Amino acid sequence: MKILVIHGPNLNLLGTREPKIYGIQTLDDINKSIKALAKKLSLEITIYQSNHEGKIVDLIQNSKGYSAIIINPAAYTHTSIAIRDVIAAVKIPTIEVHLSNIYSREDFRQKSIISPVTVGQISGFGAESYLLALRAAAYIINATRRRPKKKTS
Ligand code: DQA
Repeated sequence: MKILVIHGPNLNLLGTREPKIYGIQTLDDINKSIKALAKKLSLEITIYQSNHEGKIVDLIQNSKGYSAIIINPAAYTHTSIAIRDVIAAVKIPTIEVHLSNIYSREDFRQKSIISPVTVGQISGFGAESYLLALRAAAYIINATRRRPKKKTS
């Protein structure tokens, strides 16, 4: 089972970017933890980071073959109809992740344009949010596979 992880804008600055809010782990540290857990859960993982909305749209358009997407859309969470639309279009179960609890922050962060087209959102657990999202992805995939087929007659 293949999982696509997408980190949005400015997440490449983790470690030095507002550490009181986002923690001291670098993106590389977080990616290592994601890969280690993916191995334990027997999930194949592909990770991208981009600062560009169109690039993120392209990545999601080209996500055929993935069983789930984990995305931290970062600032695009609050602005991007394009990312919302492509998630709705590809119909791959998508989990939204935030390091910080966006609902305890500035007003403009308290609205996610992305959430309504995701399976769910994990927000506020720092780097651990990604690992919880990976477990959620494994759960969704297993739940979908175990669901008995409907009888046709
Ligand atoms: C973030 C929250 C966003 O509001 C912010 O723009 C980010 C990071 C988070 O992970 O907490 O860049 O998505």
